[in-house]
Parts: sequence; structure tokens; C-alpha cells
Amino acid sequence: MGTFSPATDVDLTSLNTLRLPARARYFARIETEQALQDALAWARKHGQQALVIGGGSNLVLCGDISGLVLHMAIMGRSWEVCGDGDAILTLGAGEDWHRVVMYACRAGYRGIENLALIPGTVGAAPVQNIGAYGAELKDTLVELRAWDAQQQAVVTLSGETCGFGYRDSVFKQHLDRYIILSVRLKLSRQRPFNLSYRELAEHFDNDTASYRSLTPLQVAEAVKAIRRRKLPDPDHLPNAGSFFKNPLVPWDTYQALKTAHPSLVAYEGEGEAKLAAAWLIDQCGWKGHREAHVGVHNKQALVLINHGNGTGPELMDLANRIRSDVEARFGVTLEMEPRRVP
Ligand code: EPU
Repeated sequence: MGTFSPATDVDLTSLNTLRLPARARYFARIETEQALQDALAWARKHGQQALVIGGGSNLVLCGDISGLVLHMAIMGRSWEVCGDGDAILTLGAGEDWHRVVMYACRAGYRGIENLALIPGTVGAAPVQNIGAYGAELKDTLVELRAWDAQQQAVVTLSGETCGFGYRDSVFKQHLDRYIILSVRLKLSRQRPFNLSYRELAEHFDNDTASYRSLTPLQVAEAVKAIRRRKLPDPDHLPNAGSFFKNPLVPWDTYQALKTAHPSLVAYEGEGEAKLAAAWLIDQCGWKGHREAHVGVHNKQALVLINHGNGTGPELMDLANRIRSDVEARFGVTLEMEPRRVP
């Protein structure tokens, strides 16, 4: 079983971007697949539950963790050129997502430039199928390797079998069944940019003729500038990005809401619509709301903030009041995006 021996009683405050205070009874930083196997064997032997964390940007820590926390730090970046200007980029789960985006863009490859500045690790990206500005991870992910606790084996899952949906995947549906080890992305030197998202198109003056001369790095820089205008930097204002998902509602519900509230913001789909949760929350007067330790960002109502010394239960209490208000006013239930533990 190797010589695995976890640290004990470790403070997790600096390992979650909301900076919520919590301690792990047992803790280890995992840099290799072998170390992960040793850690899992130790957890089995000692009857401890293992919780894997990456960048901690999608976690709401509501108390101490009684089991073994594994901080995923398996690194690695490698390229396989496939011809026709395509390449597969294989990444270790512990790589920082944003750094990887900039690295791929600098190499001249397209596919993930719209996903610049999303906090978190590569291994966490598939769990919620990260997305922004009209792109999602699923658009480039060809396959990934994961430890499957059910089969007690390393498995390879193709993109199609990951059950990707809007901020959803099999990894989210079966929390703690899989531990993602590495991810393979198909990138391209030629594929057209996706600049259809309004703010992105406006950044380039809607000048579609000029899009052909853009570089992936320029698009990534545009995304960074747009995000920085609205989304707080977790290093300065601790947050976990969007705290709620944009709710999907049937077309009839959308139409009824639109009639009652003509300024409602929504993205229309087939037979359904995705409502802008930020708009719903904003309308209820929560934007910029501040309490002793926690609050709602003043530029994006979907982002909850820890202003300092806030706790998980305080944040959840605020989230629950926001959810009740939106439900009372619009009859729409907001679903939390980050994972609450324990
Ligand atoms: N709006 C308001 N009030 C606000 C903010 C926004 O009324 O305080 C309205 C505006 O009309 C705006 C619309 O809501 O046009 C949508 O806002 P925004 O463009 O900021 O996007 P979002 O739907 O709130 C989603 C993702 C973000 C992603 C952006 C850009 C979810 C839950 N969130 O936010 O993802 O960066 O689109 O693509 O899908 C994340 O998941 O953590 C995240 C930040």
C-alpha cells in the first residue's frame, strides 16, 4: 500500500475560493496516480470517506470534513498533432484551467478561448461542464480517464458517455463515484471562433469580416476583459462564480412569465427557455445587498460574496432567502451551482 500517511486537522480556508473556514480531519496533496491509489487504499482500510477537491472554486464548505480530503495536484500537458491543423491536448487533472487556456491559445490553438479566466482545475471542469460566452467544455472534450469507485478500476470515458448537459454530467449525477485523472481536448488551428455571445461580438464591434484575422489569444483577452468588468476576482472578493444555475423552464412557463414581466431576460431554446437567474435575483432587490460577513456582488447578482469572516451556514442562509424571494415572486426554483459539503 506504499507509505501513505495523511496530515491531520488541516485548515481548508485557503483551499476554497469562498474562503469559508473548515478543517479536514485527514488531508493529502495528490501528485501522482499511484499516490491516489495509496490514499484510497488507506481510506478503505481506515473506513474513511474520501473527498477530492481541485481549485475549491465550486465548493461551499459548511463545516469540518470528518474524512480524508485529497487535494488533486496531478500535473501534465502533452500534445498529439492529428493533421488538418487539429491536435489533442492531454492534461493532468490538477492543472489550473485558466493557465491551460492561455497556454493553448499562445500555441495558436482554438477551442477553449471563450473559457478563459474560469477558476478551478482541469479535473473539475468536466464535473459541471464549465461554460461561458456560448462555449462549453463538452465542445472540445474527446475523452477522459477517471478512477471509478464502483468498478474499482481506471476507466476511459468518451465525451458522449459523460452525460454532459448545461452545468451537468455523470460526475455531478453520481458525486464521488469518479475521480477524474486526465482529460483529452481536441483543439484546432482553424476552426471558426464562436463570437456569437452579445458582449463578445460587441467587443469586436460586430465586425464579422475581421474575425478571420483574430488570434485565439486576442479572443481570450477579450473574454478576460469582459469577465473582469462583472465578475469579482476571488483573490480580492472571495466567491464561487455563479451561485445558482440559470433555470430551464418549459416554453409555456416562459411565455407566461414574459407576459407578466416584459423585461425578463432569457435564452430561448427548443421547447424551453433558460432564464437569467441574475435578472430574477436582481429584480428581487438583492444585487449589492450586504450583511455582516456575506453579500451579493454589486455588478452580478448571481455571485455571492464572502466579505470576510463569513461561514458556510451564513452563506447558505443568504442563498435560501434569495431562493425563497425568487420563488415567491416568479414561481421559479433556483438550483445551487456549487457543491455544498459536508
Ligand atoms: N443581469 C441582470 N442583473 C445582473 C446581472 C445580469 O439583470 O446583476 C441580466 C442581464 O440582462 C444579462 C443577463 O442577466 O444580460 C445574463 O447575465 P450574464 O451575461 O452575466 O450571464 P449569466 O447568465 O448571469 C452565465 C454563466 C456564467 C458565464 C456567463 C457568460 C450560469 C449559471 N452562469 O451567467 O458562468 O460566465 O453566463 O457566459 O450559467 C459560472 O458558472 O460560475 C459563471 C460565472
